[in-house]
Amino acid sequence: MGDVVRGGGSSGWLDAIGAPVSRRAALAAGLALAATPAVGSADDEPPALRDLAAAKGLRFGNAVNPRTIVGARGRLVTAECNILVAENEFKFGTVRPDERTFSLAPADRVARFADGRGIPLRGHNLFWNQPDYVPAWLTERNLGPRPRIALEDLLVQHVRVMARRYPRVVSWDVINETVVPETGAMRDTVATRLLGDRVLDLTFAAARQAMPRAELVYNDYMNWEPGNDPHRSGVLRVLEGMRKRGVPCDALGLQSHLAVPDGPPGSAFGGRQSTWRRFLKEVNDLGYRLLVTELDVDDRKAPSETARRDEMVAETTRAYLDVTLDNPTVRDVLCWGLDDGVSWLQGFLPRPDGRPQRGCPYDALLRPKPMRAAIAAAIRAAPARA
Ligand code: XIL
Repeated sequence: MGDVVRGGGSSGWLDAIGAPVSRRAALAAGLALAATPAVGSADDEPPALRDLAAAKGLRFGNAVNPRTIVGARGRLVTAECNILVAENEFKFGTVRPDERTFSLAPADRVARFADGRGIPLRGHNLFWNQPDYVPAWLTERNLGPRPRIALEDLLVQHVRVMARRYPRVVSWDVINETVVPETGAMRDTVATRLLGDRVLDLTFAAARQAMPRAELVYNDYMNWEPGNDPHRSGVLRVLEGMRKRGVPCDALGLQSHLAVPDGPPGSAFGGRQSTWRRFLKEVNDLGYRLLVTELDVDDRKAPSETARRDEMVAETTRAYLDVTLDNPTVRDVLCWGLDDGVSWLQGFLPRPDGRPQRGCPYDALLRPKPMRAAIAAAIRAAPARA
């Protein structure tokens, strides 16, 4: 991408309501365009995020699912991304609806999409150690006279099946969200009750053995917002413990489900930059790399007015990415949905005013928003990776 196309008059592409549409969105929408490269002109199409990222030794990506890899959305994802992850299709709960079944058709569809386009794929996740997401059949299952061993076998077998089926996954979230945000303690699940920290040890060890070349990640949502201190401390304890026990974990996944802050614009991030920078450094000092795995912005604290909201979402994104991308161990940035029309935020964190959340880089009509420009600007400002 990065080429420039003109059409629809000198002001660029116009959509049905008269707003300028990027070539990328126009392509995504299936509009026929006449290619007339004109590098350097005023209506230059901004380069694709994947190209901006690649120029810095980074990858830009997104979470997709079988419904968002088709049609216009599929084309947009292909144009913008050089890494992908499946939103739900690789999760233990999806793959294992019951004790005997491996339901892999949806994951296969996502893997085929990525493979077919030569786009690297992340795996998310091998085990989500969060009570809400451990399937009931496992929690309630009678694991027999030797429950620990039965559970270990089940986890190891799961890892091996996934590794064999998806050998091209470059990076796996091995364990997701094992820390209680409010206290920093390990979450109470059937796995933690039976195995304690060994749930981490054996799942990571099985993953390393089954896919020695894949990056292995612990993924969590300890954020930079105030109130996240116990969560960050708990994650640091988990990472430190794994290091001491020789657990083969390579990186911490920063989910990065951000929220627009309270308070006046500009001043809102004061203090957080240094807290966050310090946290990232502590993670590095324990010997882990970092990656941004699930970026989006909850805009419930922003006013209803669309333009102001978009501005606040963009400011939040820029402030966060500036600090995070300044850390040279961060090489991947993935959004959790490229457009508001498919964002999980709509269902999980609905706005009190009933309007849709606007926490993704594109709106539901696939028009780029200030958040996309903020991501592009942060990537441009980031130091190049060696
Ligand atoms: C979310 C999905 O987006 C939803 O569709 C699903 O119903 C619940 O999970 N942290 C994670 C992701 O690690 O797997 C979550 O994805 C969002 C929060």
